[in-house]
Amino acid sequence: MLSAPLQEFLRAAERLAAREADWTRLVAQLALPFRQLLTEPDLLTPEQQQLGPGSYVQHALYSSPSGRLALVALVWRPGARTPIHDHIAWGLAGVYRGCERETRYEWCDHDGTPRLRVGETHEVTAGEVVPIVPPGDIHQVTNPLAGPTVSLHLYGGNILATASGTSVRCVYRPELVLPTTPIAVH
Ligand SMILES: [Fe+2]
Repeated sequence: MLSAPLQEFLRAAERLAAREADWTRLVAQLALPFRQLLTEPDLLTPEQQQLGPGSYVQHALYSSPSGRLALVALVWRPGARTPIHDHIAWGLAGVYRGCERETRYEWCDHDGTPRLRVGETHEVTAGEVVPIVPPGDIHQVTNPLAGPTVSLHLYGGNILATASGTSVRCVYRPELVLPTTPIAVH
């Protein structure tokens, strides 16, 4: 069951997605209504915010008949951590309760071998959203809190129909990440 604010948002998102093919522009147009959605007090049912058996769980909320959009609620236990990954299509990640720590990675050349370097880290708190616009969207998400986090992720395409049932394109081994250089103290 989708709450009235969720249904209203999804109708507006469908209209925007139908007329904007450019991922960067679409994500920019969706960001404000998505942020406003996250302030709704009765956005999700208790079942849609329930923890699962694993460290985090994905509750499928919506998959559009047009195949343009999918919406999921993710519920994270304290310390939960995704693998390092990227996505097949655009997305918007927004936090409803708690905090998502998002660490970005970028490719670099290390003695002729492609490796990943740690980039920016963002603490995304309740009411905030972060865009996902492939390519170049390699990241990892953790719940840094001692309590659960609930987030909403809106994805381009019918990700619930993919083999994994997610929007993940690739998972990257942690060994690919270059160790960060300690700051020298004199
Ligand atoms: Fe992701």
